[in-house]
Amino acid sequence: MPTQNSSIHGEWSSRLAFILAAAGSAVGLGNIWKFPYMAGENGGGAFVLVYLAFIALFGLPIMMAEVLLGRRGRQSPINTLKSLCQQEQVSKLWSVIGWSGMLAGVLILSYYSVIAGWSLFYVLESAAGGLLAIQEQAAEDLFTNLLSDPVTLVFWHSIFMFMTMVVVARGVSNGLEVAVRFLMPMLFVLILILIAYAISQGGFLQGLQFMFTPDFSKLNGDVLLDAMGQAFFSLSLGMGAIMMYGSYLPQTASISRTTLAVAIADSSVAILAGLAIFPIVFVNNLATAQGPGLIFNTLPLAFGQMPGGIIFGTLFFLLLVFAAWTSSISLIEPAVAWLVETKKQSRLKASIVCGIVTWLIGLGTVLSFNHWDSITLFGKTVFDCLDYLTFNIMLPLGGLLIALFVGWVMREQAVREEINLQQEMVYQVWRVLLKYFTPIGLVVVFLSAIGII
Ligand code: TRP
Repeated sequence: MPTQNSSIHGEWSSRLAFILAAAGSAVGLGNIWKFPYMAGENGGGAFVLVYLAFIALFGLPIMMAEVLLGRRGRQSPINTLKSLCQQEQVSKLWSVIGWSGMLAGVLILSYYSVIAGWSLFYVLESAAGGLLAIQEQAAEDLFTNLLSDPVTLVFWHSIFMFMTMVVVARGVSNGLEVAVRFLMPMLFVLILILIAYAISQGGFLQGLQFMFTPDFSKLNGDVLLDAMGQAFFSLSLGMGAIMMYGSYLPQTASISRTTLAVAIADSSVAILAGLAIFPIVFVNNLATAQGPGLIFNTLPLAFGQMPGGIIFGTLFFLLLVFAAWTSSISLIEPAVAWLVETKKQSRLKASIVCGIVTWLIGLGTVLSFNHWDSITLFGKTVFDCLDYLTFNIMLPLGGLLIALFVGWVMREQAVREEINLQQEMVYQVWRVLLKYFTPIGLVVVFLSAIGII
């Protein structure tokens, strides 16, 4: 089957458009909400170092492979894999990458939307002056009360899901570019303002030390697995989101340079978010390991005290919602594109179906913070289970299969042609990483997490 030159769902107007969209997908709650609390729970420095190493050693090579698959297949991940299997004359079983990716996307979005809903709640709270001069206890109560109120949680979860599906129904390449081009830099500036505030208040050095002094005695299999999950989650890898975006990439764009730009932007935002949050934690003598509530318990303290806090706070949470929005679109796009291609549904209908299913699953996460908080499996609530299953297992496993498929299954000629790296050295390094280092590394991390190594 010949390779199509463009996707039926559209094409990016330029390489920059792809970088912006991919960066929009990468930068989200994963950087600002998840990274700080993961670093906090896993002891800081050593986790951060391993995370950065995994971004470079696993993330970059796999991201290039994922974009390559998308651009070669030009369809939703499931159909891309199916047609590539046909091209390479190998078993269709490899399309499990597409299937599990689609499922992972829906499951992640189901809770991602609930967390984005928390951010929406904080936009209003901040705008209404509710964070003004707020003290530690009051900030904690505000968050605890939010979690204990399923109606409010469902309300904001619904609004966010609706926002996501509106964009997806209209087609991904419209509008996303503008949002990312202007709003991302603004978010970046606001994080810098928070850091400047942290420097003026003290605690910054302590924060810096916490994040960059690795204490290797803190490393164990679980920490490695978390760092690996974080690398995949924050780059949007392992479930076909980047493959989908790659399918809209013009044939002439360089895959290596675009992925490098995205990875640098993405990890910088995560590190800066950490540098903004930990000083607040230390100055107020809070715990670093407080889990998913970390940014919601700390940032209000900073916005409550700084001059112009109402404006900065409102803007910050608003931009956080935007960042989450541009990410959530990529989580559901593979499912929607698959329905459009395979079931010949209109984008609108496909979006409604996917939106409703995801919204319903999200109710499980909402309830896991209140009525269902005692319903657990291995000590994990519904939210914890979904998080663990997707973040720690499905994404890295998807990445592993992608590396194996591109490294071992596809003909080298096809890979070489599609990746089109100008420098032979770079190509060889990438190939060795993808064929040997990445798969072995991923398996070692899995084995060490289950205690075999
Ligand atoms: N990367 C996004 C974030 O950091 C979340 C995200 C969007 C994602 N698309 C994804 C995670 C695909 C995994 C896979 O918030």
